[in-house]
Amino acid sequence: MASGDMTSSKENAIFPPGEAVHKAAYVSSMEQYHKMYKESVTDPEAFWMKIAKDFYFKEQHSGKFFDYNFNINKGPIYVKCMENASTNICYNCLDRHVKNGQGDVTAFYWEGNDPMDCTNITYKKLLDEVCKFSNVLKSLGVKKGDRVAIYMPMIIELVIAMLACARIGAIHSIVFAGFSAESLSSRILDAECDILLTADGVYRGSKLIHLKQIADEAINLCKDKHKVSTCITVRHLTDNSFSDDVSDRPGKRPCSKVQVPWNSGVDKWWHILMEGASTECEPEWLKSEEPLFILYTSGSTGKPKGILHHVTGYMLYAATTHKYTFDYHAGDIYFCTADIGWITGHTYITYGPLLNGATSVLFEGIPLFPDPSRYWSIVDKYQVSKFYTAPTAVRSLMKFGDDPVKKYKRSSLQVLGTVGEPINPEAWMWYHKVIGNSNCTIVDTFWQTETGGHVLTPLPGCTPTKPGSATFPFFGIVPAVLSENGEEVEGPGDGYLVFKQPWPGMMRTIYGDQKRFEGTYFKRFPGYYVPGDGCYRDDDGYYWITGRIDDMINVSGHLLSTAEVESVLIEHPSVAEAAVVGKPHSIKGEALYCFVTLVDGIEFTPELVKELKERVRHSIGPFCTPDYVQYAPGLPKTRSGKIMRRVLRNVARGNHDIGDVSTMADQSVVDVLFTNRPEQD
Ligand code: WT7
Repeated sequence: MASGDMTSSKENAIFPPGEAVHKAAYVSSMEQYHKMYKESVTDPEAFWMKIAKDFYFKEQHSGKFFDYNFNINKGPIYVKCMENASTNICYNCLDRHVKNGQGDVTAFYWEGNDPMDCTNITYKKLLDEVCKFSNVLKSLGVKKGDRVAIYMPMIIELVIAMLACARIGAIHSIVFAGFSAESLSSRILDAECDILLTADGVYRGSKLIHLKQIADEAINLCKDKHKVSTCITVRHLTDNSFSDDVSDRPGKRPCSKVQVPWNSGVDKWWHILMEGASTECEPEWLKSEEPLFILYTSGSTGKPKGILHHVTGYMLYAATTHKYTFDYHAGDIYFCTADIGWITGHTYITYGPLLNGATSVLFEGIPLFPDPSRYWSIVDKYQVSKFYTAPTAVRSLMKFGDDPVKKYKRSSLQVLGTVGEPINPEAWMWYHKVIGNSNCTIVDTFWQTETGGHVLTPLPGCTPTKPGSATFPFFGIVPAVLSENGEEVEGPGDGYLVFKQPWPGMMRTIYGDQKRFEGTYFKRFPGYYVPGDGCYRDDDGYYWITGRIDDMINVSGHLLSTAEVESVLIEHPSVAEAAVVGKPHSIKGEALYCFVTLVDGIEFTPELVKELKERVRHSIGPFCTPDYVQYAPGLPKTRSGKIMRRVLRNVARGNHDIGDVSTMADQSVVDVLFTNRPEQD
C-alpha cells in the first residue's frame, strides 16, 4: 500500500457543526442522517424517486430504479438508472427555474482576474444566451451525440457553451485551459471532436495566456489523423457582451495585447455567430442513459481516460450532493474556487448549483493575485456563505500568515469545503480557526472524476468532524474496507476503499474503452467498484483516506500518472530510462521527483535538468512541472526487472530506512542514489 503517512498524523479532536448552519440545516442531527442514509442504501428506489420529483422529465420513469452488474465474473459491468425516463439537464438547470418565476435571480456573479472586472447574469439571461448558442451549434451541423471540445477560461461563455451542448444532446469534452497543445490535441483525437471552442486569451494573475494560439497548435497537431472543422473563439480580452456599458469597464484591456491568429476556413468569432441567433431552442429530450459529457483524467498506464457521465443519474447526484453537502438554501451565496475544466467545476460550479437554482460566484483569477487576500475580499464583496476550495490553496495562503485573512470580516461564511487530496490536520485547523473564525463546519469531501459527486463527506449541519477525515458516506454510498486478499475488514482497520453498490452519479464507462473501464475499476476485487485509494476506518467508523494505491501522484489536487511523465522524459534523446515518484511537498501535497538514467556518454548538466523540466511542462501542462530531476546511473530493480518505486520514494525523501530489499537485483545502486540527491528545499 502506497502510504499510511496520513494516518500517523491524524488528530482525535472532534468539532461540532457550526452553529449557524446547524440551526437551519436540512439534516440537523446524526439520527436524521442515519435514518435517511439507511433508506438510501436499503431502498434506493424510494429514496431517489422522491428526489426525482423535483425535476422535469419528458417521459416518466417506470420499472426498477437501478439495473446493474458490478461483478465482472458474471458478465459486462454496467449501471443504468431510471432507464426509460427522458429529460434534459439544461432544461432542469434553467427553464425550470425561469418557469417557476426565478428568472430574475442571479445565477452567477462573475469576478474577473482583475479585481475591477466584474459582472453578473440572471437565470433568464443565461437561458437566452444558452438558447442562442444552442442554435449556433445546430446551424454548424452539431447534432445529438456529437463531441464538442471546449478549451476556455473561467468566463460565463464557458458555462453557456457547456449548457448549450447539453441542451442539444451534444457531448461536451472540456479540457482545462492550463493543459498544453499536445494534451489538448490527444483529447480532441480520442473523442474525435469536430468542433473546438476557445477564447482569444486570458490573464491568470499577471500572466497572459494565448489560448487561441495553443488551440491552433492543437488543431495542427492532430490534423493528419482528425480534422477539426470549426474553431469558435470568444473575444474575451477586448469585449464583454454581458456588461451594459462596455466602454467604461475599468478592467477592460486593450486588444493590441492579444495576437489572434486566424484561419478563415476554420475560425469563427463567437460574438459574430451569436448576432441575431434566436433565443428559442427546444431542448433535445434524452433518455436517462444517454451520455452528457466526457472528462479526461489521468490513468496509471499513462493514457488519459475519457470518463463518461450520463444524463439522469449525474443530474440527480450533482443536485443532491450540492444541496446536502453545502446545505444550500435560497439566499445563500456559494463560491467554489475550482476551474470548470476539472470535475469539481463541472459538478459544483455548473450543474449542481444551477440545478438547485443557486447564486454562485464564478472566479476567473487565482488566490494570490493581486495579493493573498483575494478570496476573502470576494467573500466579503458578495457575502459568500458557502465556500469550497482545495487543501493546496489553503496551504499556499497559510504561508502568508493570518494578516491577509484578517483584513476582511468573513462573517457571512458558514460552510468551508475542501477537495482534491487528503487535508493535513495543520491546514484543516488553520482553515477552521482563521478562515472560519471557529464557527463554520469544514466539509472534507472525498470523491473523484469517476464518482461524479461526493461519496464520503460530512453534512455540515450535523456531522461532528475530525481534522483530516472525510467522515461518513453520502446517501446511497456503501463503502467497505478490503484486505489485500479481498476480505472485508470489520470494524476499525486499514485497507483498500471500495464501494459495494452503484449510486446515480457514477461513471458509466470510459469513452470508447469498456475493457479498460472494467479492468481499472472492477477487476482487482470482483463485485466492488475500486476507486484506487487506501483508507483507514477508525473506532468511531470515520473514514480517513490514506493515499493512492497505484502509481498516481496527486500534485495540488490533480492526479497525474507517473507513466505519463516518464514517457515524456524518455522521449528526450539523452534519456535512457526514467522513473518518477512523489515527494511530500508543503504546498502542493506531492511534488514530482524524477530519476533519469542517461544514454552513454551524455553528461548530466543543469541545462539538461532545465530542458527536461521544460519538456514535461510543455507536453502536459505548467501545473505538472517536475520539482526535482536526479541523475541515476542505475535504477533499483527486482530480479525480474521491475523498478522498485518504494525504494525510490525513500531516496526522494532522504529516508535511509528502505525496508526489505532482498528481491533487488543490485543493491549498490541505492547507495549511489543517496549520494546523488539534488539540493532539496
Ligand atoms: C482522487 C480523485 C474530486 C475532485 C478533485 C479530484 C484524491 C480527492 C480527496 C479528499 C483525500 C482526495 C483521491 C481521489 N482525493 N478528494 N477529500 N481526501 N483524497 O478529482 O482528479 O478525479 O482525483 O483525488 O486520491 O481518488 P480526480
